[in-house]
Amino acid sequence: MAMLEVDDLTVEFSTADGMLPAVRGVGFSLEQGDALGIVGESGSGKSQTVLALMGLLADNGRARGRARFDGQDLLSLSRTDMNNIRGEKISMIFQDPMTSLNPYLRVSRQMAEVLTLHKGMARKEARAEAIRMLDAVHIPDAASRIDRYPHEFSGGMRQRVMIAMSLLCRPRLIIADEPTTALDVTVQSQILMLLDEIRREFGTAVILITHDLGVVAEVCDRVLVMYGGRVMESGVLDDIFRRGRHPYTRGLLASVPRLDKSGGGRLQGIPGTPPSVRRPPPGCPFEARCTVREDRCAERPPPLQDAEVGHQVACYVEMET
Ligand SMILES: Nc1ncnc2c1ncn2[C@@H]1O[C@H](COP(=O)(O)OP(=O)(O)O)[C@@H](O)[C@H]1O
Ligand SMILES: [Mg+2]
Repeated sequence: MAMLEVDDLTVEFSTADGMLPAVRGVGFSLEQGDALGIVGESGSGKSQTVLALMGLLADNGRARGRARFDGQDLLSLSRTDMNNIRGEKISMIFQDPMTSLNPYLRVSRQMAEVLTLHKGMARKEARAEAIRMLDAVHIPDAASRIDRYPHEFSGGMRQRVMIAMSLLCRPRLIIADEPTTALDVTVQSQILMLLDEIRREFGTAVILITHDLGVVAEVCDRVLVMYGGRVMESGVLDDIFRRGRHPYTRGLLASVPRLDKSGGGRLQGIPGTPPSVRRPPPGCPFEARCTVREDRCAERPPPLQDAEVGHQVACYVEMET
């Protein structure tokens, strides 16, 4: 059995306009050391998918479905059990490191506290381990920089500190939600290389959320393409990059800046805007923007079907051609 198995995950928010579906019928599985990319435009349900798994939905949100991690159903855990899993077995990193770092405390104190709290380490031992982790994320001169405050690090270095924090308990899974979106391209690429290195060195599984397929290509071996709260296509990297079949996936691929094309390539976005969560269309969420749409696409959402082994597509039209 896989380390993480998510099946038919649905997230709804109760609002003044009624129940809004943000995630519908999402499923995937993850083995030890796997790296899964979840991609899609803003609002496609990527963050709510993982927040649901972590028990971190907003108060008006509700998750249904199944999510087994290490034999436990994440969706029905008590708050205490979830807190333990969150600190020790699964950790999350975000776009803004300051969501996980306390600006008023030295990094040394914040890191040591995690280890004394979760691992019962003595202060000295905790400090040594914290320095080891800062070394692992390539912070130069970690033994002295550890006593700095978060704001004394540059953006990229602060991101590294946060990754080191997330590694302290040696989690089995790291979920990174747009971790490099705010960084410039060079730093972004360094952080992605670091995530890849951590995966190999520690055998940590990674879920990387991004709106950029180019980012996925650097780290992930499998990809889930989401749109309008649903999975449009899923497969290994090559299934998506070379044999991507869903019109939405193709649109995303066309939007990846191509360095091999003269002039650096052009960013060719997908015309139109994502569907309204307030009035979700009854059919395929991409139908309104799709260039190959047929009438049936507006009636019922196409099921996710096998195109090849391990490669699934939710599109009536592409599955028949
Ligand atoms: N607390 C909330 N109440 C109502 N709707 C929400 C709430 N949180 C998120 N949503 C909606 O859920 C949808 C999916 O959001 P999200 O998963 O954050 O998208 P993204 O793919 O950009 O990460 C969005 O339309 C968002 O507006
Ligand atoms: Mg998001």
